Amino acid sequence: MRELIISTGNEGKYKEIVSTLGDTFDRYYSLGDFDEKVVVEEDSPLYFENAMKKARKVGDRFNMATLADDSGLEIEALGGKPGVLSARYGIDDKDRIERVLQELNGVPWEKRGAVFKAYIALYMPDKGWVYIFYGQIKGFIGFEAKGDLGFGYDPIFYIPQLGKYLAELEMETKNRISHRGKALNAMKEFLNADFFIRSRKR
Ligand code: IMP
Repeated sequence: MRELIISTGNEGKYKEIVSTLGDTFDRYYSLGDFDEKVVVEEDSPLYFENAMKKARKVGDRFNMATLADDSGLEIEALGGKPGVLSARYGIDDKDRIERVLQELNGVPWEKRGAVFKAYIALYMPDKGWVYIFYGQIKGFIGFEAKGDLGFGYDPIFYIPQLGKYLAELEMETKNRISHRGKALNAMKEFLNADFFIRSRKR
């Protein structure tokens, strides 16, 4: 039986990850499924280090394969902010969105370019290995919020190729094109080709 802990307290992320991975694993656990709370401080300025730390600490504690995502939004006109601090840029999603819109006040469309980055760490405690997968999506920060799907900064992230904001996309569509979806799909391909999955399918 292939089991995976998804080490996040972010419900939006959790749903996207489970939906993208589908039957890659037989059973998924969230941190809420365990009585013991494992505290992991995301103290690195590097996404991949935070992702690795989260996956390792939780995976070692519960002795199970563990996935962690560290992601963020980098806005060109703000010198890459909020970046690795995206989750801490305000008290809640609404507040963070208002702050970004405020900081971009007066910035014209062509200078509102942004990128979402996702680093996915997959840790196997039995082998002691951590694999890292990366995905990104480029777009623009709109002048106001639009759409009510998704989570986080989705309502202000505009994708010119689709003529839509991320918060206007159904989860399945978002997962096909998003930073997280790309990283997870790379992980799926790797696992399907790798002996790890084949050896566990038997
Ligand atoms: P962390 O990875 O837990 O540090 O949090 C990443 C933060 O980046 C989230 O709390 C969101 O604010 C933002 N973020 C990451 N991915 C997305 C996304 O797909 N849509 C909207 N916001 C996101």
